[in-house]
Amino acid sequence: MARTFFVGGNFKMNGSKESISTIVQNLNKADLPSNVEVVLCPPYPYLAQVVAENKQPTVKVGAQNCYLKASGAYTGEVSPEFLKDLGVGYVVLGHSERRQYFKESDEFVADKVKFALSEGLKVILCIGETFEEKKAGKTIDVCKRELSAVAEKVKDWTNIVVAYEPIWAIGTGLAATAADAEEVHADIRKYLSTVIGAQAEEVRILYGGSAKASNVGGFRDKKNVDGFLVGGASLKPEFADIIKSRQ
Ligand code: G3H
Repeated sequence: MARTFFVGGNFKMNGSKESISTIVQNLNKADLPSNVEVVLCPPYPYLAQVVAENKQPTVKVGAQNCYLKASGAYTGEVSPEFLKDLGVGYVVLGHSERRQYFKESDEFVADKVKFALSEGLKVILCIGETFEEKKAGKTIDVCKRELSAVAEKVKDWTNIVVAYEPIWAIGTGLAATAADAEEVHADIRKYLSTVIGAQAEEVRILYGGSAKASNVGGFRDKKNVDGFLVGGASLKPEFADIIKSRQ
């Protein structure tokens, strides 16, 4: 089964009503391919705006996080119910910035993935190693550890997209080479096949980390790179070129 090419834009903690409107209007005007799934992930306060302003049928909206309860006394948290109510279909979970700065453990991420899926959201699950772990040859061990925490709690991965994001490549301008990314993605798929069987062939595995219009073309012939999770470049007009990079 062919995996639909996927491009996510993670705006992180960036933007304003005006700048986010400009991004959406640019995409509305672009001639986007009909066979690429695009998910825009603005900060929470702008989710409703992006849902309202988006006119592209292939562009969907995702949140950058959510909590693992439907409602209740959890001051400051955002429930999957709220996201669905706004027309948001995806959520990014396990981003390294949340693991690092907000001390999210593998188990906490896995619990959130399980809950978000059970509430009907689709999940972009981020994994990836630090520079020290890479130097120590632990890349796939780290990925397996992060994936296995989820696999213990979630058996059906139909609605999970995995994003391999080496931490050393995020925001540094030093993207992984296409060949290195392909090697890791192939290892990830091989590992997934041991825990979820044949379904591993259907799971999209995105690359993230300094992906931009000038380097994504190099990943074109990599059969296990099913798209990109883009940070900085998703805030720029070149994001449309990344979406079109497999045409
Ligand atoms: O979620 C996106 C990644 O953290 C990549 O960010 O493209 O700015 O390196 P970046």
